[in-house]
Amino acid sequence: MPGMNRPVSTVPTAALQALKDMLGPGGWLESAADREPYEIDFRRLHRGNTPLVALPDSTARVAGVVELCARERIGIVPQGGNTSYCGGATPRPGGHEILLSLRRMRKIRAVSAQNDSLTAEAGCVLAELQAAASAVNRLLPMSLGSEGSATLGGIVSTNAGGTAVLRYGMTRALVLGLEVVLPDGRVLNQLSALRKDNTGYDLKQLFIGAEGTLGVVTAATLRLFPQPAAVATAFIGLGTPAAAVELLGSLHEALGDTVTTFELVPRVALEFTGRHVAGARDPFGEPHAWYVLAEATLAAADDAFVARFEAALAAAIERGLVEDAVTAASGAQRDALWRLRETIPEAQAKEGASLKHDISVEPARLPSFIEAGRALLERLAPGARLVAYGHLGDGNLHFNLSEPAGGDGGRLAGQADAIRRAVHDLVAAHGGSISAEHGIGQLKVGELERYEDPAALDLMRRIKRAIDPHGIMNPGKVLRDSE
Ligand code: MLT
Ligand code: ZN
Repeated sequence: MPGMNRPVSTVPTAALQALKDMLGPGGWLESAADREPYEIDFRRLHRGNTPLVALPDSTARVAGVVELCARERIGIVPQGGNTSYCGGATPRPGGHEILLSLRRMRKIRAVSAQNDSLTAEAGCVLAELQAAASAVNRLLPMSLGSEGSATLGGIVSTNAGGTAVLRYGMTRALVLGLEVVLPDGRVLNQLSALRKDNTGYDLKQLFIGAEGTLGVVTAATLRLFPQPAAVATAFIGLGTPAAAVELLGSLHEALGDTVTTFELVPRVALEFTGRHVAGARDPFGEPHAWYVLAEATLAAADDAFVARFEAALAAAIERGLVEDAVTAASGAQRDALWRLRETIPEAQAKEGASLKHDISVEPARLPSFIEAGRALLERLAPGARLVAYGHLGDGNLHFNLSEPAGGDGGRLAGQADAIRRAVHDLVAAHGGSISAEHGIGQLKVGELERYEDPAALDLMRRIKRAIDPHGIMNPGKVLRDSE
């Protein structure tokens, strides 16, 4: 009912008709078959319902939709490429919320080599943006496994991470400006490539990583960098995660901040990709317990760069830190090494049921966390396979479990809550985060309540109420909607 602090539980037919009229032909979908792909997340863990998929093609139309929904107190679920890991872009069951897809907002508004910036609309796919930057001889350093489908609005709204955070930071570090439709339909225009702007609160920061709960990101201006002229890539075999942490320190000492990627891969993940990914093969003759995919890049051409990288690895072998290493001698070899890391999620999916935990601890504490986690999981889920891989340079691991080889008849799924609780308690005991880069969505609302500092939670709830007083923006995501 208008006036109440909660969205309506039934979307009135007249409001749906008004939305359709405003969106025009091609601007909405309504049949069950057309809605279906928007109502389920890509991992098929979350399924909801919506009476209408709105497909606006401009900021003005997004503003029109939001303004009408604000008036009628209708909940709105923004969605980009639908690659969320936490159900953040999936409507809840009940059909109470309209789905606002940004897919038709595909314009690249400006690319400037002089400003080292790119301004694009929310529905642009990351791979297109990388290509647009490269066309003006610049680098957009966001690098995600899902870059062929993830879109800019979702990337900004989840503050996405990926495999170049070590050097370039999370999405937040790359955003210079934002355009946001606020929950009352006004447009907050802070699109600019300014590097310095200390005029009051930096409001754009509120919307980065807010998962659409404070407004709809419709466009963003991103920082660009010089394109690398020299690239050195290695796949490295070693005995322990502690050796990997130490190796990162010595590569930093030898190569400075040119180290862009430092990804941990356990033996079991290499076995998974070998079994399920066409063309993936173990680059070594002997197995190693752990591997690292490391890459360093330099903007200025330097024939000696790869040799310096190889010398740093040779020194690490000499010290007994590294057991073996191969470096890429061509673009094709580089791609083959990257595939061994990037295809782990799809290979793990083919190994049967799995549980995912997106955790981070300070890098120096990762080795002890991994050991304690392994012991814990052996006790809780004997036979299940620990697949701990990911962004070691950022202290962020996907601390995943796969069901025992041959299956366990759904036992792992039945234990999911208990295992998640135990892993997250261990993360908390190590001073870490229970969501390093995938967000909260609807999956981890309870986990956020359990582990977040109460003062921080209180501030989050106050910010939500101040900006979205009727609770229409992505209700029930990040924060419970009764709050
Ligand atoms: C990755 O690092 O591969 C992604 O974050 C996906 C995943 O967690 O599996
Ligand atoms: Zn990741």
